[in-house]
Amino acid sequence: MAERLQKIIAQAGIASRRAAEGLILAGRVTVDGQIITELGGKYDSSQHKICVDGKPLTFTETKVYYLLNKPKGYLSTAKDERGRRTVLDLLPEVKERVYPLGRLDNNTEGLLLISNDGDLMNGLLHPRYKVNKTYVARVAGIPTEKTLDKLRQGIKLEDGMTAPAVVKVLETADSEAKVEITIHEGRNRQVRRMFAAIGCDVRALKRVKFAGLTLAGVKRGHYRPLTAEEIAELYHIAGIKQS
Ligand code: URA
Repeated sequence: MAERLQKIIAQAGIASRRAAEGLILAGRVTVDGQIITELGGKYDSSQHKICVDGKPLTFTETKVYYLLNKPKGYLSTAKDERGRRTVLDLLPEVKERVYPLGRLDNNTEGLLLISNDGDLMNGLLHPRYKVNKTYVARVAGIPTEKTLDKLRQGIKLEDGMTAPAVVKVLETADSEAKVEITIHEGRNRQVRRMFAAIGCDVRALKRVKFAGLTLAGVKRGHYRPLTAEEIAELYHIAGIKQS
């Protein structure tokens, strides 16, 4: 995100914003090697190399972790070139440079972790750790147990066989069913494609559980910080030592 140069310098802990203005005016700040002496310029510190007295800025932001109940209609990205709503619009008070850990489709709702901890993100998303994700799918028609067994055994998709899923019918109504499915892979639109492969159209999809965390107490569109115990458990699951 582009921000005023003096704000970026302050965020790096070099000086207050006022003092940072002084550094800029004194010609002590460079952006991509060019001395900048104007105060109005906006830059993105992830795109530009910003130096004070020749030394590159470094950012040691506090790590933050949130559990969001994503509604439909929000993209799971930090920003969108076409200006569409992203999940970060739901956390306006969070000042750290956070991003979603993994993705939910625009029309999927439910549990999404938001953090600025890249190490944890890499660990949790790595296929090696087989992190469980549970979804509730509302599907058209009522699939038979025999049909659902195909998902339990693993089903062929265009990008290969899926790992066996845990599948349970929660409810049936006239012409649709609510089916809970737990998978540990994270392929693009995987659950929708798995149901499509058994001839079931997914009418609504919600992630209700991720790595043991649930949506309990978090209303749609709201979020809460993770507890220290939850963060420690995620580190454990992701196979990384917490620093
Ligand atoms: N599977 C899907 O099909 N969509 C999601 O958003 C998540 C898993």
